[in-house]
Order: sequence, then structure tokens, then C-alpha cells
Amino acid sequence: MSSTPTWVQLIYLACAVCFILALKGLSSPKHARAGNLLGAVGAIVAVVTVFFAADINHLVPILIAIAVGTVIGVIGARKVLMTQMPQLVALFNGVGGLAAAVVALLELSDRVGHGGEPKFDLAMTAFTILVGTVSFAGSMLTFAKLQELMTSRPVLFPGLPVLFGLAIIGALALAVFVVTDPMVWIGIALGIVGLALGVLLVLPVGGADVPIVISLLNAFTGLTVAAGGYVLGNTVLLVGGTLVGASGTILTKLMAAAMGRSVVNIMFGALKGGSTLGAGTVSDRPVRSAGPEDIAILLEYASKVIVVPGYGLAVAQAQHTLRELVDVLTARGVAVDYAIHPVAGRMPGHMNVLLAEAQVPYEQLKEMDDINSQFKQTDVVLVVGANDVVNPAAKTTPGAPIYGMPILNADEANQIVFLKRSMRPGFAGIENELLFDPKTTLLFGDAKDSLGKLLNAVKAL
Ligand code: TAP
Repeated sequence: MSSTPTWVQLIYLACAVCFILALKGLSSPKHARAGNLLGAVGAIVAVVTVFFAADINHLVPILIAIAVGTVIGVIGARKVLMTQMPQLVALFNGVGGLAAAVVALLELSDRVGHGGEPKFDLAMTAFTILVGTVSFAGSMLTFAKLQELMTSRPVLFPGLPVLFGLAIIGALALAVFVVTDPMVWIGIALGIVGLALGVLLVLPVGGADVPIVISLLNAFTGLTVAAGGYVLGNTVLLVGGTLVGASGTILTKLMAAAMGRSVVNIMFGALKGGSTLGAGTVSDRPVRSAGPEDIAILLEYASKVIVVPGYGLAVAQAQHTLRELVDVLTARGVAVDYAIHPVAGRMPGHMNVLLAEAQVPYEQLKEMDDINSQFKQTDVVLVVGANDVVNPAAKTTPGAPIYGMPILNADEANQIVFLKRSMRPGFAGIENELLFDPKTTLLFGDAKDSLGKLLNAVKAL
């Protein structure tokens, strides 16, 4: 690290500051765009600096690789639907882990035979290879589960825990060899065991928990990049990787807490027999349903309405129509707020991003803890494409996959209206007793379609 010129160190420091400010910006919807941009500028400056700071061999293949990666990244990010964002994050995260592992392997092959390598450097190299390959294989599997290229249910087979234990022991033994007797083939073997470990780690995780595993693997990739930065003597990789590792770890813990689960339970719950996904049966019990005109009257005569958005709103892309409806109601003197559950949708901040896209004022978005006491004084709760986040089973049914998850107290309102297409359950795959509550009315149909009809009906009153 000491051989890096001071001007380069100073640029790296500035890039690190950009990353920290980017994280700060991303923590509020108002500044998220600016934060994202600042982080991207920091990353671009860091990459460009390398070309001026070091003697680079193989310049042409490097530039070709960057160009190909940029084209794939830009097209991928532009084409991906909002509901597919977790898959995209999994892909980007996985290739990041693999890149760090490959760089560490190349470093190892450069250093082998010179002798006198500091043991700590070799330990960091082994760590980068192992965790990078775990992250790559695990991320690819999460991608396959979310993209429904394979079953999203926990995959279990006899002997899985034993195989997992053996893989861990094998990985540790190979990592020790990398440090004591460094050889390239040992590094490659360590990488192969890392790939197997990544697969065995993610196989038993059920669909509803996959986004949390993506966040955990993201933290792994961050740590890998940080260790790689140490091996290469690159400060900006060290700082950037540490920030990703730390923020990924915090995000994983927050998501797990929002679902009322521990990270260990999410990762290994299925091994103990507790499936992380429910049965997914469709109920044929009678419910009360109504047409848009009836619901419009309910809303028109309410003085306080709370909207609970969920995954179905994102699927239907009905956020603009929802905002229009809320605008009309607000103009007629109805007080309307949106109640945002921390794990509504399929990724952190999913509803905030979706509603921000429709220019819903931030002040109308209320976090769960702030709004939960207000449901009692609410005339109508409009649940748009949400299910698990208002399912009272989280409080009342020990053993349910969502038991212990804090929920929005929609059941305490005077009237509850669900907008959904069928009686199919939410992601956790369990029945929602609130659908059968005497206070509940269902408006069946695609959320965008239903909201459009509701909007016309309200305007016609
Ligand atoms: P869900 O419980 O998954 O319910 C979504 C509802 O939307 C379903 O009832 C579905 O019913 C309805 N729906 C789907 N498409 C629709 C459409 N086009 N029009 C109208 N309705 C539609 O969603 P939620 O309440 O947002 O809960 C999120 C779930 O994901 C939780 O279980 C949570 O733990 C899990 N999860 C979230 C995250 C993050 S970070 N957000 C991470 C991990 C897990 P129909 O099929 O009948 O229409």
C-alpha cells in the first residue's frame, strides 16, 4: 500500500467519501437519487484512476471486458421489471463475488514460489477465494429460485447437513493449506469447495426468505472485496468492500427482524423440519365481495382512509392509478395515508420506490410503527395487493411461517377492503383469516383494473 503515490491515495480517499455520502443519501427517499449518483461517480473515478496510477498489462482485453460488462449491465438494468429487482441484485452480487475470487486466485499464482509471503496476506487470499465462490454459487441459486428456473421451496435431502458439515471442514483445511503451503491447485480446490458450500447453503432456504439470503450474500461479497483490497493493497476496494459488508449485514438483520425471525432460523430453519414456505392452498370458504360502485361509496363517506400497498400493487403496476384515486379522495376532504410495512413487496423499500415513482408525497407514506396505532380510528383500510403484511396469523398462529412478524393492524379498522385477483394466499402461502372477517369486503380483479373502475366510480359520485 505504501508504494501507491500520494495523489492516488487522495483520490481514493475522495472516492471513499463519495461511497459513505452515497449510503447516507440512500437512507432517505428524497436524497436517494443524488446518493446513488454520487456512489456511481466515486466508482467511475476509482476505476479510471487505476489506469493512470499503475502500469497495466493486457490493456486491450481489459477494456474489451469493461465494455462488454457495461453493455450487459446497462441493458440488464434498463430492461428489468421492478418486481425482478432482487434477481438482478443477486446476479450482480454473484459476479462481484466471483470476480474477487478470481483476482485472489491470480494473486496466489503470482506469489507462489517466491517464499516469505506474509501469512496474513495468504489468509486474506484464502478468505477471498472461499467467500467469493460461496457468494457466487449462492447468488446464482437464489437467482434460479426467484426466476422460477427451479422450485422456490426448500430443497432437502437426507445427508444434507452432513455434507454441509464436511464441506465446511474441507474448506477450512484447504484454507489452512493455502496459508502454510501455498499452491495454485489448493486455491482452485478451495474455490470448488466454496461453490459447493454456496449451493448447500441456499438449497434449504424457501422462496419467501430468499431476498434475505441475497442481502446476506451481498454482505459476503462486500467482505470478499474488502479482503481482496487488502491482498492487492488497494485502499478504495478495502473501504468500498467494508461498507458493502457492513451495510449488507445491517440490512439482513433489519429484514430478519421485520419478519420476526433470526438470521439463523431463516438460513437453517428448514433443516430442523420447519419449512420456510407455507402450503399455498386456495380456500373455498365464503367471503363477502362487492363491485367498485359499493366500495366507492364506502370511501366517499369515510373521513379517514389508510391504504396498505403490497406486492400485488407492483405486479399490477397500479401505483399511478392508486395515486390518482387518493388525490381525488383527498380533494374531497378524506384524510388518506399509506401504511408501509418494512417487508411489503419483495425487496427492502419496494413500496417506497414504487410510490415515489408515482410522485406520491413522502409525507403521506407512514412507517408501520408510526401508523399502527391509527387503524382503530380509521374508517376504511384499502389493502391493495397486500396479504401477509396484514395477516393476523402472525400474532395468533404459532407455527405459521410468518408467526412473530410484526404486522399492520388493519384488522382494527372499521371496514377492510381487499383488492386482489383470487383467494390465493400471499408469499408465505398461508390463509389470511382477515379475508373472512365480517368487516371485510373483497373487490376481485387485477389491481390496476379495479383501481381504474374505483376511480371512475368515485368521480361519478
Ligand atoms: P403477499 O403476501 O405476497 O401478497 C400479495 C398479494 O397480492 C396476494 O394476495 C395476491 O393475491 C395479490 N396480487 C398479486 N398480483 C396481483 C394483481 N395483479 N392485482 C391484484 N392483486 C394481486 O405480499 P405482501 O403483503 O406485500 O407481503 C410480502 C411478503 O414477501 C411477506 O411474506 C414478506 O415476508 C415476504 N418478503 C418480503 C421481503 C421484502 S424485503 N419486501 C423479503 C423477503 C420476503 P392474488 O394472487 O389473489 O391476486
